[in-house]
Amino acid sequence: MLVLDWVAPIFYCVIVVLQLHGGDAKDLKAMCSTCRQITDNFNKGFERTAKKNFGGGNTAWEERKLSKYETSEIRLVEILEGLCDSSSFECNHMVEEHEEQFETWWFKRKTKNPDLFKWFCIETIKVCCPKGTFGLDCNACVGGSDRPCHGNGKCDGDGTRAGDGKCSCDRGYEGEFCLDCAAGYFNEERNDTFSLCKECHESCTTCSGPTNHDCDKCKSGWEKDEEGTCVDTDECSKDSSPCKDDQYCLNTNGSYSCLACDSRCSGCMGPGPDKCRTCAKGYKDEEGTCQDINECELPDPVCTEENRECENTKGSFNCRCASGFQEQDGVCVPSPEPEVSQEVPSSEGAYTQTAKLSEQHEDL
Ligand SMILES: *[C@@H]1O[C@H](CO)[C@@H](O)[C@H](O)[C@H]1NC(C)=O
Ligand SMILES: *[C@@H]1O[C@H](CO)[C@@H](O)[C@H](O)[C@H]1NC(C)=O
Repeated sequence: MLVLDWVAPIFYCVIVVLQLHGGDAKDLKAMCSTCRQITDNFNKGFERTAKKNFGGGNTAWEERKLSKYETSEIRLVEILEGLCDSSSFECNHMVEEHEEQFETWWFKRKTKNPDLFKWFCIETIKVCCPKGTFGLDCNACVGGSDRPCHGNGKCDGDGTRAGDGKCSCDRGYEGEFCLDCAAGYFNEERNDTFSLCKECHESCTTCSGPTNHDCDKCKSGWEKDEEGTCVDTDECSKDSSPCKDDQYCLNTNGSYSCLACDSRCSGCMGPGPDKCRTCAKGYKDEEGTCQDINECELPDPVCTEENRECENTKGSFNCRCASGFQEQDGVCVPSPEPEVSQEVPSSEGAYTQTAKLSEQHEDL
């Protein structure tokens, strides 16, 4: 028991020391952003409490009281209370750990060092660096602290005690200093400290200027003409179409599409029934457009079986059972009909019966 009581605190200390020394870049970056958030909230709290209204007029007593509050411990405490969300461990921990520093600044440094972020986060607890600098000693970023990465990228660890100061360049830029243009971009302006890269024309892989006359190399789907300009390759004009038999080819800049032919065509050169190579089965060419054949009106009847009649459909036809017949085992047989008296009665009662019958038919 005694030994354990001894060992546990030592163990704890070792862990704390390890954490302080092994604090990796992520922690250091996070600490700076926590600190920035704290000082932002401090400034907000400072403004909020400045508007504090003591009510009523401006008696001398109230003014004295007000000016006293302005620099009072009470006001500081009110501001400190609003620095962190209660759920943010890192924030509350940092504030608790450095409460004395806030008091020092509030009572002794505020006038000389009005920028709390700079005084607290950068100079006092040293979790942040000035803009354009990075790392434990706040060294200048690659490209200088005024315009890190020459304005074309982001410096690793910029403004924090972490990072290596190297650049990750914006789209279109590359190189250690982000002064070179990436593939597909060209330098519109450039000197030792400044570079402006713009995108090449869509037809170029690499280029020296903005148009398709300035390509070093054409993208696939484009080819150089006699003047060295990259022009679109018309894939559709080639001898063998790159599309399937029931599709037509549509050329686009740098590429092509295969689109479905109209259903009335068998092979086509474009959209619609008037661009068919030949008409699909069941359709015939009428003045350059493929139109449905009405098989039911052909001189030779197509439905020859007994009790069937012809019904035209798009591209085809049906031989359906005539009215009063129904399909049964592949032939048309008479439909079972309700018994209807064939006698023609002259009485009113019979008239009513007929009316009822017709009602029944509607229900069917
Ligand atoms: C480089 O070009 C930029 C933009 O045109 C200009 O502001 C800067 O003065 C130039 N620097 C030098 C060293 O020529
Ligand atoms: C195709 O390229 C030409 C010339 O480069 C251009 O004028 C036209 O707008 C482009 N068309 C499309 C759909 O991008």
